[in-house]
Amino acid sequence: MRRTLAASTLLAAVSLSSAAFAQTPANGDFRPGPEKPLVQKNCTACHVATQVTAKRKTAEQWGETVEKMIGYGAKLSDAEFESVVGYLAKNYGPDSPK
Ligand code: HEC
Repeated sequence: MRRTLAASTLLAAVSLSSAAFAQTPANGDFRPGPEKPLVQKNCTACHVATQVTAKRKTAEQWGETVEKMIGYGAKLSDAEFESVVGYLAKNYGPDSPK
């Protein structure tokens, strides 16, 4: 019982702090779009959003990057891969504003 309580308290603390973390503007936020929740969920598991949003890449380069992330452990289906790469190329392409 004690252990269960401690575990759930810890979980609550972790999810609260990560929510605060994600909302800090310095950590960046993804540009709006239908794929934003998917990208947010899958691309902030290991690093902050700015690791992604500070970059500018072509669709091909984003494809290579996301493939590398899958190699690190990102979990994306083929359809999700296409959506994520499309979103990134559209919002963080070579001509996108900083
Ligand atoms: C399983 C952990 C993990 C997940 C999930 C993950 N990344 Fe990463 N990412 C890393 C690590 C580790 C590095 C640093 C090593 C490197 O630069 O290759 C990194 C670095 C990066 C970089 C900077 C290096 C570069 O190649 O430009 C970008 C951009 C990036 N990630 C984008 C993404 C995107 C987009 C997603 C969502 C599809 C994502 N990451 C999800 C682990 C992850």
